[in-house]
Amino acid sequence: MIKTALPPNQPTTQPIGKPPGVRLLRQLKWILDPVNYLEATKAELPDFFEEDALGFGEGPLVITSHPEALQFILSRDRTLFHSPGEFNRLLAPLIGDASVIMLSGDRHKERRQLLAPAFHGDRLEVYGQLICQLTEAVIAELSEGEPFAARKLTQKVSLQIISSVVFGLTDSPRSHEIMRVLTDTVDLFGSPTSALMLFFGGLQTDLGAWSPWGQFVRRRQQLDDLIYAEIRDRQSNPDDSRKDILSMLMAARTEDGEALGETELRDELMALLMAGHETTATAIAWAMYWTHKQPEVKAKLLAELDSLGPEASPTEIAALPYLTAVCKETLRRSPVAMFTFPRVAKTEVEIMGRTFAPQTTFLGCIFLTHQREDLYPNHTAFLPERFLTRKYSPYEFIAFGNGSRRCVGEALAQYEMKLVVATLLSRYRFSLASEQPEIAKRRGVTLAPAKGVPMIFQGKRNP
Ligand code: HEM
Repeated sequence: MIKTALPPNQPTTQPIGKPPGVRLLRQLKWILDPVNYLEATKAELPDFFEEDALGFGEGPLVITSHPEALQFILSRDRTLFHSPGEFNRLLAPLIGDASVIMLSGDRHKERRQLLAPAFHGDRLEVYGQLICQLTEAVIAELSEGEPFAARKLTQKVSLQIISSVVFGLTDSPRSHEIMRVLTDTVDLFGSPTSALMLFFGGLQTDLGAWSPWGQFVRRRQQLDDLIYAEIRDRQSNPDDSRKDILSMLMAARTEDGEALGETELRDELMALLMAGHETTATAIAWAMYWTHKQPEVKAKLLAELDSLGPEASPTEIAALPYLTAVCKETLRRSPVAMFTFPRVAKTEVEIMGRTFAPQTTFLGCIFLTHQREDLYPNHTAFLPERFLTRKYSPYEFIAFGNGSRRCVGEALAQYEMKLVVATLLSRYRFSLASEQPEIAKRRGVTLAPAKGVPMIFQGKRNP
């Protein structure tokens, strides 16, 4: 058996607690009010707890928020553990079952290798100017004094960005239609009660165009039609000079020389469009909230941005230390993903003095790790300085997970977050429309600001 090191005198096996209460009630609480559910368990069961009400896998499910345990699991998730794609089947109605998120083992690894270059280094620089321009174009739709929800605005921006990364140009009538239908589709799962549909298979029944699942199925069909039409157009008009992800996927061949089929292409595009815009939109909306909630943070950030001058390149902006710290603290204080994807023990393992049976499923709890007082003193405060005075390990700051399923879009997400926040704050003025604090609530499988961050557009800024 492989173990983590134990401090001297610690007993070799400690029990894992379970949250109290009836399973169904715990499940409803987790779906309808996940923040409360997680915070309540933290008080009783700080590092590990066992839960069978979350809807993942078949065997015992253990949730951990201890960095040592996270490191043990995630750094061995190709050896002692594995991360079966089929455990993410909750997402299948939205993204099908042939994308990187649903694949396992070697096929998963191969698909990641195929996707990774689109989100790194040189490619990011190409997207830099585009991100700033798309942000400006969306802001141009607002007039001075107009109230708006920051999350709606950032969703527009991030959807256009990911669409151009995935499909190339965003300006065709079809890409506009894809973005419109996609927004309508994800908005269907925007509230905790509508998210019930994802968790309870019995609610996934099409009772006609006005029933909740019926609406979803029809919108998904519309989206599929549009995406398949785009794939077929590309097949009939091949263009080697295109650098977008769809072109790259279409050109790719497996080790056996096979091309991806239409369904595989559709599922991958859907997964990237979904994962790539919902999350980032929420993160940027939170950054707008926190910087406007705390004027001293905004002032410091503006001073840093102004020091660069108006001609600064996206690369220079993205390298700014305080901007980087603000974005990290946003993802720390208001994480978008509550958990990593599941990892399953192949054999019996011992982690920090606890023994776990083979087939135990583990979820890393990003939400609770980011609330640990031993890592983030005064954890409810928004303090970007934390990230300037201390270096956090990738198992302490874990917004994007780690190991074999670490977020493929992490670099793009962070780059995009910095450039959109920098463009918004350095060029325009905003205020929060309400003094009331924003709280996090479920949006599909993620957390998002409950009121969408209501703001007022105050016009152009003259630094
Ligand atoms: C702030 C924005 C984002 C956050 C917080 C986020 C968070 C995460 C997390 C926590 C995971 C699971 C990691 C694990 O289990 O270890 C993940 C996986 C993933 N993310 Fe992101 N993500 C973000 C943006 C993006 C973007 C822009 C894309 C772009 C396409 C993307 C695509 C994916 C994909 C495809 C996976 C699955 C990887 C796999 O199964 O191998 N994400 N993300």
